[in-house]
Amino acid sequence: MENKLAQPGILIRRITLVVLAVLLAISASLLGFHLIQISDPYVSTVLSLTGDSSRGHDMFQINCAGCHGLQADGKVGPSLQHVSKRKSKISLIHQVTSGQTPPMPKFQPSPQEMADLLSYLEKL
Ligand code: HEC
Repeated sequence: MENKLAQPGILIRRITLVVLAVLLAISASLLGFHLIQISDPYVSTVLSLTGDSSRGHDMFQINCAGCHGLQADGKVGPSLQHVSKRKSKISLIHQVTSGQTPPMPKFQPSPQEMADLLSYLEKL
């Protein structure tokens, strides 16, 4: 039987397919990261709730002010004034819940608590 791979036409078609598959995989992983964050059920629940900034303020005083200052003007952690101009809602939620930037701990607020906190952070 003839070896099909040896035929140049088929070989080129296969290489093209492999290249396309690799490009597709790369763009899917770049795009996927963002889509996964939005489709995360916790994040979408938080985003669907209306936050109460005065409850968020209370939570902030208890959990965050030790590092970020009573006025969120910075101490061990950076000042959070106008933080919502630098960071999207999704990245603020991620910052609070991921624990990826030690020494800031990983917090696990309920979706309503996170919505309250978010609404406070957005007023800074
Ligand atoms: C143990 C100290 C500590 C506590 C407690 C803490 N943080 Fe932080 N936080 C930090 C540090 C340090 C950073 C800077 C991390 C980095 O980017 O490397 C930070 C960064 C942040 C940022 C990103 C700021 C920016 O300009 O990008 C936000 C938003 C934030 N913290 C919110 C909070 C909230 C809300 C709480 C309470 C739920 C909290 N933090 C509690 C130490 C803390």
